[in-house]
Amino acid sequence: MSVRKPLPHDAARLHVTGAARYVDDIPTPANCLHLAFGLSQHAAGRLNNLDVSKVRAAPDVVGVWRRKDLPSDCDCSPSNHDEPLLSGKRIEYLGQPVFLVAARSHLAARKAARLGTMDVTPRDAILTIDDALAANSHFEDGPRIWQKGNAAKAIDSAPHSLEGVLEMGGQEHFYLEGQAALAIPQENGDMVVHSSTQHPTEIQHKVAEALGLPMHAVRVETRRMGGGFGGKESQGNALAIACAVVAAATGRPAKMRYDRDDDMMITGKRHDFRIAYRVGFDDEGRLQGVDFTQYARCGWAQDLSLPVADRAMLHADNAYHLTDVRIESHRLRTNTQSATAYRGFGGPQGMLGIERVMDHVAHTLGRDPLEVRVANYYTDIDRPAAAKAKPDQDLNAPQGTGDLASRGAKGPSGSVAQAPGQTTPYGQTVEDFILHEMTEKLAKSCDYSARRAAVHAWNAENPILKRGIALTPVKFGISFTLTHLNQAGALVHVYQDGSIQLNHGGTEMGQGLFQKVAQVAASIFGVPMDMVRITATDTGKVPNTSATAASSGSDLNGMAVQAACVQIRRRMAVHLAALGQDVPDNVIFEDGAVQVGGKELSFAEAAKLCYEGRISLSATGFYKTPKVSWDRIKGQGRPFFYFAYGAACSEVVVDTLTGENRILRTDILHDCGLSLNPALDVGQIEGGFVQGAGWLTTEELVWDDKGALRTHAPSTYKIPACSDRPEVFNVALHNRRNEENTIYRSKAVGEPPFMHGISVLMALSDAVAACGVAYPALDAPATPERLLAAIRKVRDEL
Ligand code: MTE
Ligand code: MOS
Repeated sequence: MSVRKPLPHDAARLHVTGAARYVDDIPTPANCLHLAFGLSQHAAGRLNNLDVSKVRAAPDVVGVWRRKDLPSDCDCSPSNHDEPLLSGKRIEYLGQPVFLVAARSHLAARKAARLGTMDVTPRDAILTIDDALAANSHFEDGPRIWQKGNAAKAIDSAPHSLEGVLEMGGQEHFYLEGQAALAIPQENGDMVVHSSTQHPTEIQHKVAEALGLPMHAVRVETRRMGGGFGGKESQGNALAIACAVVAAATGRPAKMRYDRDDDMMITGKRHDFRIAYRVGFDDEGRLQGVDFTQYARCGWAQDLSLPVADRAMLHADNAYHLTDVRIESHRLRTNTQSATAYRGFGGPQGMLGIERVMDHVAHTLGRDPLEVRVANYYTDIDRPAAAKAKPDQDLNAPQGTGDLASRGAKGPSGSVAQAPGQTTPYGQTVEDFILHEMTEKLAKSCDYSARRAAVHAWNAENPILKRGIALTPVKFGISFTLTHLNQAGALVHVYQDGSIQLNHGGTEMGQGLFQKVAQVAASIFGVPMDMVRITATDTGKVPNTSATAASSGSDLNGMAVQAACVQIRRRMAVHLAALGQDVPDNVIFEDGAVQVGGKELSFAEAAKLCYEGRISLSATGFYKTPKVSWDRIKGQGRPFFYFAYGAACSEVVVDTLTGENRILRTDILHDCGLSLNPALDVGQIEGGFVQGAGWLTTEELVWDDKGALRTHAPSTYKIPACSDRPEVFNVALHNRRNEENTIYRSKAVGEPPFMHGISVLMALSDAVAACGVAYPALDAPATPERLLAAIRKVRDEL
């Protein structure tokens, strides 16, 4: 079987030799036009006049489009129809596209785009969370509030209580390949679009809408992206629409790619958040009640901000069983880039809130933070309910959640029932918790206790260099929270020579989805991997697909491909059994051969016989995730099919004179269920961790008081380099089958490891705490400047 093998990425050789073809590498068609946007230089105001005469007169310019020249508003929004391609009278952020230039070369278009003059009456811009709160600038009517039990009462009657505020920054996606699109007009007004997108169907939908065409007139193809990380779920719409509009108007192909500065100025990033908390707890640090207020800075348009903010609420518990909890969420509208999806989709922000609470509570009690964390964990599936667990008195829960009866007879692992009603704040029963087992295993393998003692001893002797260590858990919900998105389709062809072509709705962005799904197909037909060819994602082959997002790519598309392959294999088995006087169930597909009626055929011979027998060797497959349904307004139900788990331990050292720091060692134990491909999964874990650590340490986005993003290039925005990875970096997979029936019992892996980066922030907090008495209350990103300020604060120097 090909599944479970640590095969390399199918395009690894192409990536490293430069032969992999991205949108910009597609040979430019004859007569192709190159596009660039002219950008607003104000964050908010009224556009009185736009003069593009110099733009038109610039060398090699073929056309200029203003809002009024477009065939429609050319809306780019994936959600709310509030994102016109070009601003009309209203300027909404600094960097907003105001006009569009088409020229004979990329450079000519970019140069001309600088020549527009805009007469703008500026308005006071709403830039920060405080500005938005003062102006009552919300999406939706007001804050969303979910609760379980009575948090205020529980906090007030607890032996101890504390409160605090945590600020965390946003994050630039910094995909290596910038946003790009190429539109090629066809006969009869049809359009073909190549797009660097995680969501070809959305590009098809938005291009069709902009041009006033039915979706069948638009075909979108995506071979691969050079990274997406959520930044290509919706942010590619503008380029694809712009190309299609120009192509339709001129009859010429049109291509657009943002250079890095434009990409950073125009497109949305991770939402920055402020989280205020109040918590009551006992002497052991067990939470009695907790109250969170989450403020998300969403930017000028709604985009995906509501589900992002929902997911932050859905991860406010992380791995901890909270009996009395209240979560209030503000989705704030500001005159900045429209914040969007980014690996974890709000989950990391929500999770950081409760991890800060754990750290703060432990510091206050003078306890080991790991002890406090574990004391608050949900109960493992294999263990009897801990004596502590107080059953939920969940007044808000509708009848039927917390359904224990259906789990009475436990699955094949023979595990016992958990704490009665072990539910999340949103009423989903946690049925698959394994973090006690995983934490013990990791704490042992990384020698946590001894190293923590060593860190203490080091800090007692060293006044300048302080060390810190932290072990933090991750529990991440798997499924799109917009329930209907949990579906996928596939199209599989077996050719008469036995070679197999595979298509599905997922897109490849470096994560290895294509290879995993090909492994599934190869396993079902029992053929070697080189018999399976994966082709570009194409809306003409598989329709109505969801974004490749929410880490669900292999869960959804793997199942859809399996369904298609099983159908073809069955048809083949029935035909071959009839020829070989055997029964279909006895036909075996293995090692590139087919065993039937005591004879062995090669798979190629079998395919040829089936073709000659007029058997259809092509099939579609479809999958929808079972069991999920919930009410996002009430915050009740089962948004997630299952949870993915992991734990990370990081040790850092901080120079208390400069704030400079290094990650000395990180150990991660991560749950991929039974991995489809351990090599690719380890790659996702390593990459996710480093990206998460970057978010919380060096990656700082700075807007000035005019609303201009000052960090719009790698010269000022620092992503981790190879040299920033931990000096010692151990990643292990916790090979335990998914309790739910997923593809070969694997688990989604794309986003959850990102949140292992939290261990670095908590280790830095530990190091700073060693400098004084007060709690560091470290905000993120913990840049050297912020670390120095925190050190001075705990030393009482500020
Ligand atoms: N890994 C690479 N190399 N490049 C990416 O752009 N995106 C991440 C993650 N891992 C990404 C990545 C994000 S945000 C998601 S949602 C998942 O991959 C999407 O792919 P999957 O569903 O197939 O895991
Ligand atoms: Mo990932 S943020 O769901 O694209």
